[in-house]
Order: sequence, then C-alpha cells, then structure tokens
Amino acid sequence: MKIKSLYIISMVIMATVSGRAQAPLDIDREFAFAAQQYEGMLRAHPDTTKFPQSTNPDGSPRDMKSDWWCSGFFGGSLWYLFERTGDPKWKEAAHRWTMAVAKEQTNTTTHDLGFMLYCPFGNGYRLTKNPAYPPILLTGAQSLATRFNPNVGLIKSWEKFQTYTYPVIIDNMMNLEFLFWAAKTSGDKRLRDICLTHADNTLKNHYRPDGSSFHVICYNPDGTVAAKKTAQGAADGSAWARGQAWGLYGYTVMYRETKAKKYLEQARKIAGFYLNHPNLPADKIPYWDFNAPGIPNEERDASAGAIAASALLELSTYGGPEANTYRQAATQMLQSLSGPAYKAKPGGNNHFILAHSVGAKPMKSEVDVPLVYADYYYLEALLRYEALQKKKG
Ligand code: GLY
Repeated sequence: MKIKSLYIISMVIMATVSGRAQAPLDIDREFAFAAQQYEGMLRAHPDTTKFPQSTNPDGSPRDMKSDWWCSGFFGGSLWYLFERTGDPKWKEAAHRWTMAVAKEQTNTTTHDLGFMLYCPFGNGYRLTKNPAYPPILLTGAQSLATRFNPNVGLIKSWEKFQTYTYPVIIDNMMNLEFLFWAAKTSGDKRLRDICLTHADNTLKNHYRPDGSSFHVICYNPDGTVAAKKTAQGAADGSAWARGQAWGLYGYTVMYRETKAKKYLEQARKIAGFYLNHPNLPADKIPYWDFNAPGIPNEERDASAGAIAASALLELSTYGGPEANTYRQAATQMLQSLSGPAYKAKPGGNNHFILAHSVGAKPMKSEVDVPLVYADYYYLEALLRYEALQKKKG
C-alpha cells in the first residue's frame, strides 16, 4: 500500500516536472467512459456492414466496409470491454462485430489480415474459446501467407507503390503475432518461419542506425532493395510516428514469441529513439511525424501514442535497465490520452473514445480525427497497465 502511494506520488511529481500536471490513471473511470461512448456507437451502428472508422471532414461518422484494414478493431475493442466488465452485453456485441469480418478470411489481396482477423477473433477466442473462431483464423493465416514470396523473404504489403511492385511497409510487423498464433495452433512451422524471415529482413532494411524506420521499402524480385520511401510520412527520410510505434510493438512481440535477444535489442533501440527524440512533446504524445516540417504547429497522433504505450508496457516486463523508464513513459502517455486534451467529451466525437489522431496527412486523409484503432490500442494499454499494477500488489 505504502509502495503504491509512493508510486502514485512519484508519477504526479514526474508529470508536473515534465510540464503538465496529470491526474493518476483511474481504470474504472476510463472503462466506464469507454463503455458509455461505445454504447452510443453500437446504437449508431445497427448495420454490421458499416464499420466505425473515424469522422468525415463535415463532421459526420466515417464508416468503412469489412475489407478495409481497420474492420477488426471495433470488434476487438468490444472484446476488451467484455474482458474488463464481464458483462454479457459486450460479449454479444463483440461476437456480432467479430463475425461481421469473417468473410475476409479468404481475402488474399491484403496484408492486413492480422489487424482484421486477429484483433477480433484472436481476442474473442482468448476470452471465450468459441470453437467457431479458430478455423476462421487459420484460413485467414493461410491467406496472409500467400503474400510471402520466399525469393524476396517478406510478406508483400501492397500490389504497387509508385512504380514498384513489391512494397513492404513497417506496419506489416503487426501481422506476425497472428501468424505465430496460427503456427502454434495448427503446427504449420512454415508460418513461424515466415515471421522470422520477414522480421529479420525488416530489421536489416527498414531500420536506420539511430533506431528509426523508413515507412516503405520497395523490393526487387531477388530480395534486394529497390528504394526506401514513405507513403504516410513527411518525407522518405523522416520518422513517421505511427510507423515507429508499429515497429516497437512488432519487435516486442517478436521477442515474446522467440526469446531471441536481437529482437529485444531492436525493440529497446526503437524505444530509445522514440522516447529520447527532441521533438517528442512533454505529454509524450507525438506529432504525426517526428520530422513534420511545421513542428510545433503540427497535429499530434493519439493513435501512435496508444500503440506505443501498449508496446512499452509489454517491453517493461522484459527487464533491463530501462524497464522502469518504459513503464513510466507508458503511464504518462495513458494519463495524457485520458485527459481533456485527447479524450472525447461525453457523447461527442462520433462516440469514439479518443480524438486527435492522424491517418495519412500527405493524402489529406483523416487528419486530426478519432480513429478506431487509437481506441483499440488505448483500451489494450489500459488493461495491460492494470494487470501490471495488480502484479505489483
Ligand atoms: N496500417 C496503416 C496505418 O497505420 O495507417
């Protein structure tokens, strides 16, 4: 109890010193708020072919179809609400929105099946052991594996980018958790090998010496690099914030699944780049690109903040001299996101929980809006934070 009080006092001092007084996290309060927002979201979305995504420029809700890369996040968040509350109403809604994505299991035109299928079905299976879910996941994993060309040694992200025909984006690291699960569940060792090869080649070609990552690496058919580019970042040589967060999360998962030190070292290197960057604001929620040209007059990306917080909380459990730094930084990120600067006003924000994310600024798409995946990783991070607090006693 005494240690807990000291911890809370030190968090408040730390937040004050870093420029902004922040209230300690109250997980009950945050989940109650999330539940209120998502009850409204469910009421506003009776049709499960229209997936909550964001807000349109005119302020209306932006919904997408099941083949959009974000279709699994709403179901995934509903599972997190069920996990925290145990309320069967969330289980029913989560199941409905999970099954709404099922038809994507045979979609071989996207590399995003990890997001689309594993976030809803993976969480649903973890929590309910519903036997209907694994066959859908396993079919989806095989669909995703069709995009791996052994001559290149990576899963292809898009069919084309500019003139290049084998682009791979850093975001793709997020699909490997799904393939690891499928390898363990089905015994198909090839799926695990794909993860290792993809992660090794990404480490070799996507990363710069300072621990930052390019967004898009375009490959030749023999696996050599044709070009290093960006699609969603400020410049080819910049550090697009969400890409840094995807990589941080992805290499943390690689370490979880393999216990290979090289992946832990990579995750720590990315964390070092992210947390020590001079352009990371005091509240630890990044601008949409660490090198955005107009900083400090650039939009923040709450989604990157939520993803990074969730990843850092896991990374903090793997020890090392920076473990406390990771945990404190993640806590501060969650405090920021839970404060008035990022959290929706009750009933507002088209029923999303968080405001102020950026989808793709160079395309002027989804700039300074709520995004369904910001909410998903925020809820995940809150659950991880709570689990760690309970472990500490
Ligand atoms: N995977 C696409 C994005 O992060 O915007």
